[in-house]
Amino acid sequence: MEDSKNNDYAEKFYLDCGISTKAIHAGEHVGQFPVSSHTNPIYQTSTFVFKNADEGARLFAGEESGYIYTRLGNPTVRLLEGKINALEGGDFKKANPHFRISTLAFSSGMSAVASTFLGLLSYGDTIILGNVVYGATEHLISNVLKKYNINSVEVDTSNLQEVKSAIKENPNAKMLFFETPTNPLLVVSDIKSISEIVKNVNPKIKIVVDNTFATPYLQRPLELGADIVIHSTTKYICGHGTVVGGLMTTYHDDVKDAVYMIIKDIGGSPSPFDTWLVNLGLKTLPLRMEKHCSNANIIANFLNTHPKVEKVYYPGLKDNPYYELAKKQMKDFGGMISFELKGGYDSGKKLMDNIELFTLAVSLGSVDSLIQHPSSMTHACVPKEKRLKGGISDGLVRISVGVEDVEDLIRSLDKGLSLV
Ligand SMILES: Cc1ncc(COP(=O)(O)O)c(C=O)c1O
Repeated sequence: MEDSKNNDYAEKFYLDCGISTKAIHAGEHVGQFPVSSHTNPIYQTSTFVFKNADEGARLFAGEESGYIYTRLGNPTVRLLEGKINALEGGDFKKANPHFRISTLAFSSGMSAVASTFLGLLSYGDTIILGNVVYGATEHLISNVLKKYNINSVEVDTSNLQEVKSAIKENPNAKMLFFETPTNPLLVVSDIKSISEIVKNVNPKIKIVVDNTFATPYLQRPLELGADIVIHSTTKYICGHGTVVGGLMTTYHDDVKDAVYMIIKDIGGSPSPFDTWLVNLGLKTLPLRMEKHCSNANIIANFLNTHPKVEKVYYPGLKDNPYYELAKKQMKDFGGMISFELKGGYDSGKKLMDNIELFTLAVSLGSVDSLIQHPSSMTHACVPKEKRLKGGISDGLVRISVGVEDVEDLIRSLDKGLSLV
């Protein structure tokens, strides 16, 4: 069952609008609501009532669009999906009006990743994987997909030559999956150049970009040549730390259909209430991202000259190797910063235990600032040798810069650093 009305509405009416207008209005007030509520209602229901037996039969046969059962579709969920079509579709949809952008919402970012893999990959397939991806994505591939004889080949996607070689050496590859910027060192890969290589060497490969760190405010992979975009909405898209959720967006109908089958059969669909919260948070995404980015820029420059800090990883610093590429590919440089303390692990631990205002927690993209230690927390499941090879040392600290007053964040960091 597919309610295309929401999606079409969002795409058609908001094509020429700016991103803030789309974030607030796209998909809202679509005529199907029974009463004209200003904010969209939460359809907190597991099932939907048919007018009569014939209508039920037509809905099941796919002859009519409408709602049957929330695992298969729900108006609150469809609203979020329509809004994301407008945001991720961006100029791609303008340049390619004949394509239909489709988004599917999930109960978590990992559900979006896993459903996309299961929908598109078959026994014996190969996936080319960015060498730095979220730990659970890596675990899913190396432990779960392996059982179904789906193999992975790792590649440093920031190195275009390596990408080209991997594609040539793996003619049976079906998918190239990567994140940019990566977690936690914020390595940036050139989506447009990678897409050109894939389209020239093996156009059958689907390019999947996990856009969680950037959000459609900073970067829209479909415009740059990717086939599929994935999000953990748990992060910036929701923005308030209230929900675990995910999204997949594509302009290929067959991809959408294959992944929708997985939702139907495995049931990774989100709860209407969670989706409502994500939609509420999404309305202020552009406002929040602007502040996340400007705060992070100021903090990265502060840390870069601090005597207790060895090295700062932030693509917005002019001496960062990805500065030029990030400037070209992204609207701004994001709200995530990692830094290496001179005193290594012990200093990192002292900073995390003593710092005020920054909450000691994993996850990211919330309105409040968070601090965490990748090697003992988010990346603890990565073997130490691999972690160190990837530049994630024991002294590395990651912060997700919130939207507080930057002077207060600097004061907290300064005080915290004076104690290490
Ligand atoms: C880049 C990235 N992708 C996917 C995920 C998984 O998302 P979730 O925790 O919502 O399942 C995360 C979670 O941190 C992430 O950082």
